[in-house]
Amino acid sequence: MDAIRVRGQRQLHGTIPVGGAKNAALPILCATLLSDGTSHLKNVPGLRDINTTAELLGVLGRKTSVQIPEVTVGPSTGAFVEAPYELVRQMRASVLVLGPLLARHGKAKVSLPGGCAIGARPVDQHLKGLEALGATIRVEHGYIEAEAPRLRGAEIVFDLPTVTGTENIMMAAALAKGRSTLVNCAREPEVEELGRVLNKMGAKVDGAGTSVIHITGADELAPFEHAVIADRIEAGTFMAAVGLAGGSILLEHAPIDDLEPVIVKLRKAGLTIEREGDGARVERLGPLLPVDVTTAPHPGFPTDMQAQFMALMTLAGGRSVLTETIFENRFMHVPELSRMGARIETRHNTALVEGVKGLSGASVMATDLRASASLVIAGLVAEGETIVRRVYHLDRGYESIEKKLGRAGADIERISLEGP
Ligand code: EPZ
Repeated sequence: MDAIRVRGQRQLHGTIPVGGAKNAALPILCATLLSDGTSHLKNVPGLRDINTTAELLGVLGRKTSVQIPEVTVGPSTGAFVEAPYELVRQMRASVLVLGPLLARHGKAKVSLPGGCAIGARPVDQHLKGLEALGATIRVEHGYIEAEAPRLRGAEIVFDLPTVTGTENIMMAAALAKGRSTLVNCAREPEVEELGRVLNKMGAKVDGAGTSVIHITGADELAPFEHAVIADRIEAGTFMAAVGLAGGSILLEHAPIDDLEPVIVKLRKAGLTIEREGDGARVERLGPLLPVDVTTAPHPGFPTDMQAQFMALMTLAGGRSVLTETIFENRFMHVPELSRMGARIETRHNTALVEGVKGLSGASVMATDLRASASLVIAGLVAEGETIVRRVYHLDRGYESIEKKLGRAGADIERISLEGP
């Protein structure tokens, strides 16, 4: 089993490149199912989830070649409409094939994604949206079975902003007959990016990235070529890394405009972050200051940065309060950070972090994607050696994080350990 070993207390200097956004690439790969032709994606990150999606597209009759940073999705070889449990259980975002398959082929059978470490992760909003577009939905034996000879435009109000829920319904509405209005949509940059791709394909999408999206469906959608936007969460993770390790880094391609909520909080914590080239210069020269954070849908502070920000606050000079409002179980990094000497007390969805003078290296366990990132960056500043186990979580969302940090001066390497 792979692990990451970090020997701490080395500052970061030099340049770190930010890759393409995982949470933009995944829905865009699923959007290729809306057209029968060959589509090309560029600036795709080399991640486990990309490989899983390529495998799923293959099962759905689309030969997909992954040559990072490019992915080519081949022409349709038939109406294969079943997404099996074996693949969906590896990656919940597989549910994003539901809308496209239903819209393109009139039916879809997708395994229920089920929950994951951070929460129950229901998909009721996805199903309600598809029913509003005219689909008949049955859920049995762990599968979602959807049918609709032709989806029809509708007015849909989401009960809450859901990122993949908004994306699934956008893709279905893009091939529905007539106009749809989606209200209370997720406003994440990755949703806006999907809107740009659907417009390239021939749909008419207005307002993606805002809470109201108008879509006029097309009878047919064309294949496309698209370079994926940079990953704001990877960029934010490296900013927090500089905050912990100290030093000065040029973060190439960092999407500053998509990171406002994170940058405001990091500056309050004592980092300096300024535009430089096509990215950002990030430095932390003075002490870390305590900052309270509450996660919220974009443009609020992203839940995907909560664990990394908490790691930063473990060394701030005072108490900070972090409140997680999106997922019900996203504090699994707390006991692991505590093993490294952090002082954190959790009550329901709130964590009280009392800054300490220093962290000490320890053997810790990754439990979910962003928790594992928070443990790696904590290791950068800890005294001694930190071993982060189960880094397969990390590989889902970070391409070669140990290489990128190593090139910037960290003493970090991937090792293989016997046993779990
Ligand atoms: C997306 O997940 C991201 N994944 C997640 O990133 C991210 O944490 C999350 O959005 C929130 O920003 C991808 O884009 C592939 P939601 P998603 O639907 O769409 C509830 C990472 O680290 N909800 O916006 O699954 C849900 O329980 C991953 O890269 C319903 O109740 O999240 C949650 O409380 C982790 N019913 C809230 O909405 C539904 O039908 C927001 O979830 C759907 C969601």
